Amino acid sequence: MNFTYMAVPKIVCQVGGIAQLGTLMGELGAHRVLIVSDPGVVACGFAAQAAASLRQSGIEAEVFDKVAADPPMAVVEAAVAAARSFRADGIAGLGGGSSLDTAKVVALAAATGQPIHEMTGVDRATGRRLPLIQIPTTAGTGSETTWVSVLTSAGNEKKAIYAPQLLPDIALLDAGLTLGMPRRITAATALDAMVHAIEAATSRTRKNPISDGLAGKALALLGANLPLVMDNPADLAAREAVMLGATLAGMAFINASVGSIHALSYPLGSRFHIPHGHGNALVTGPVLRFNLAAARREYAHLAGAMMPERVFASEAAAATALIEEIERLFHASGLETKLSQLNVKESDIPLMAQEVTTGISRLLANNPADMTSEDIAALYREVF
Ligand SMILES: [Fe+2]
Repeated sequence: MNFTYMAVPKIVCQVGGIAQLGTLMGELGAHRVLIVSDPGVVACGFAAQAAASLRQSGIEAEVFDKVAADPPMAVVEAAVAAARSFRADGIAGLGGGSSLDTAKVVALAAATGQPIHEMTGVDRATGRRLPLIQIPTTAGTGSETTWVSVLTSAGNEKKAIYAPQLLPDIALLDAGLTLGMPRRITAATALDAMVHAIEAATSRTRKNPISDGLAGKALALLGANLPLVMDNPADLAAREAVMLGATLAGMAFINASVGSIHALSYPLGSRFHIPHGHGNALVTGPVLRFNLAAARREYAHLAGAMMPERVFASEAAAATALIEEIERLFHASGLETKLSQLNVKESDIPLMAQEVTTGISRLLANNPADMTSEDIAALYREVF
């Protein structure tokens, strides 16, 4: 066995935990903290709560509130400039994946001065970052536990920065911050997390016993609690379990990698601006059925973790039940289930399939079964 596993050194999970931000930043030695967030999260009052906690601990606080979805490099550069002009010596990311991905880069670039375009790629970032605490307000991306940041270039291309320095010092999980999440976002982000767990557990290249354990526990938490949250959005215990499941799934996939579901959802995001979790959910059923012969044992194992009360007649029955349960949750979510409902035209499919095979072959290589461009086009047509 030959693998490397990395993880965030400290996770604080507590409803109302945002009030601990000042204490935790103080422990990291910060005196001036920039909170990196977006206008929606600021409007909810969460940035004010974070700033109040910092000030109570004698820490100066300022809020950068201009993060946008699929964070443009220019916005990240503006956030770095804000951190430098504030002379920040600590960064708090507060929001969904976009805010957390921005905060990672700000913590590093504000300390080192390295231009962001020089960081893109794998292990190209140099130097040490400022103290960093990540506080998610959605439950899905797992960004608070990963060392990748996905940004958007001026030419509308996705640019990923992979660097171990992007792991935060602390992930602060406060499920109270997710209580107001709309049903569609709750479902899409949680389904993204379930896909992280499944793809990590079936990765052909980097899965390992630690990521396998995390993936199983993540699916157990998400499978049991997503239905509760969809029935009752105010169920705080279920919200917390979904948030923790998403974090564990993030820890699994960043070490093991994701596969074809993420590859096929890529053009749905870049060309049609379908939110990431929704794009994944659309292609999950077809990809899992395509993979079934190659990944039957892993799927059966995950079915046991996700549905411990069920008894399956065979490994094949268990594996099929996993696929059916994920599809049942997707169909119950109210999210559109057909590409044709989302402005995709059938004539777009060959180009999308080509884009996956040429542009995202790295993820296809992790998928348990080989996929050709024709296979991918056929999978898109299944959900057209
Ligand atoms: Fe994802």
